[in-house]
Amino acid sequence: MSAASSAPSIGIDFGTSNSAVACRVGEQTRLLPIEGDATTLPTAIFFNAEDRTTHFGREAVALYLAGVEGRLMRSLKSLLGSALMQEKTAIYDGLVSFEDIIARFLHELGQRAARELGQVPQRVVIGRPVHFVDDDSKRDQRAEDSLRHAARAAGFQDIAFQLEPIAAAFDYEQRVTKESLVLIVDIGGGTSDFTVVRVGPERATRAEREDDVLATTGVHIGGTDFDQRLNLDRVMPLLGFRHNGLQGREVPSKVFFELSSWHLINWLYAPKAIRQAQELRTNYADPRLHARLMIVLEERYGHRLASEVEQMKIDSSVNDAPVSIGLGYLETGLAASLTPADMAQQLAPLLADVVACAHACVKRAGLRSNDLDAVYLTGGSSALRPFQHALRKSFAGVPLVEGDLFGGVAAGLACAARFR
Ligand SMILES: Nc1ncnc2c1ncn2[C@@H]1O[C@H](COP(=O)(O)OP(=O)(O)OP(=O)(O)O)[C@@H](O)[C@H]1O
Ligand SMILES: [Mg+2]
Repeated sequence: MSAASSAPSIGIDFGTSNSAVACRVGEQTRLLPIEGDATTLPTAIFFNAEDRTTHFGREAVALYLAGVEGRLMRSLKSLLGSALMQEKTAIYDGLVSFEDIIARFLHELGQRAARELGQVPQRVVIGRPVHFVDDDSKRDQRAEDSLRHAARAAGFQDIAFQLEPIAAAFDYEQRVTKESLVLIVDIGGGTSDFTVVRVGPERATRAEREDDVLATTGVHIGGTDFDQRLNLDRVMPLLGFRHNGLQGREVPSKVFFELSSWHLINWLYAPKAIRQAQELRTNYADPRLHARLMIVLEERYGHRLASEVEQMKIDSSVNDAPVSIGLGYLETGLAASLTPADMAQQLAPLLADVVACAHACVKRAGLRSNDLDAVYLTGGSSALRPFQHALRKSFAGVPLVEGDLFGGVAAGLACAARFR
């Protein structure tokens, strides 16, 4: 046996918000600890300009929040398939492409897995959403190709892809005791993915599962879109979004959309973007709002604001209660708040599209919702209260099973890897 074929195969869930790695040991799937004891690593990378080091995950976010000079990048997966993928960006050791940055992240995942496994894994099954890019198969293929190149550059030799919702189904299948027809719902940071599958203890042992996958659908809507919507509604107006200027015209909105899109925030810190934002001053009737915008850009508070909005979303959902955040670092006494009713109202159109995509999957499978034995929920955003409410209403009578929010896809990818 060659060294490569005796090395363990792993599953990597390269998520928009969080990544995870799992491997199969005997009959057991094991999620690997990849940041301290944690089995998830936030998909974040920080290039420290002070000492020219690179950091990942929670550590990356913490350094940025502590005010260390450097560049934080999050939601790297959202760049796959976008025109920005071809561009290069400046970090402390020169210009690098986004593919390189993704490769560095995947390489780090491989190294951390190797610490646990005792050797560097070379065979990997990587998850991919049903659509990286909606309604554009060429760009979608380009996104997968970029991810494959990045994985190769990261040192993996044998690389395969599996759809994320199918991986989630394989994980769920480990726990079912009888054959069932299930709609798998994976609502993550960037995408919402669905599959209707036949699962069962006996089927789980088969290598060939194509006949059991009745349909898949996906839409490019996830938690980062919810964050953006809430940021535009609750925080950006404090910086001038929808503010009527002196001539009764609204301040141009591009900057606010970019500032509330996780993967675009960095662009606003470039000298040219700062100059353009300064020039917006004449569009404001209230100079205080413009001053706040300039503090956010000059002090690089964009990711901090986005994180706080995200936390507000999670807290309001978990506690079903109003939440507020202090923005005293922009102006003394400034705050933003969110009530469960605001959230339900703001997210309703996006959630309606997500639920419609779930129904499209069932229809594509040639079924009606009452043919399903269960709806299985995974992905961090599947916990969102208004989402669960909308789903329950439209799949009335079908049991909702809440699964592992963050580890299910990686675990299922490791199950898929055992047949390779
Ligand atoms: N309790 C919660 N309620 C609502 N949303 C939550 C909760 N916990 C986490 N989230 C959201 O879940 C998202 C991350 O979920 P997850 O880690 O499953 O995504 P991902 O796998 O990185 O993304 P994708 O699969 O789309 O590439 C974030 O947008 C986060 O804000
Ligand atoms: Mg995911």
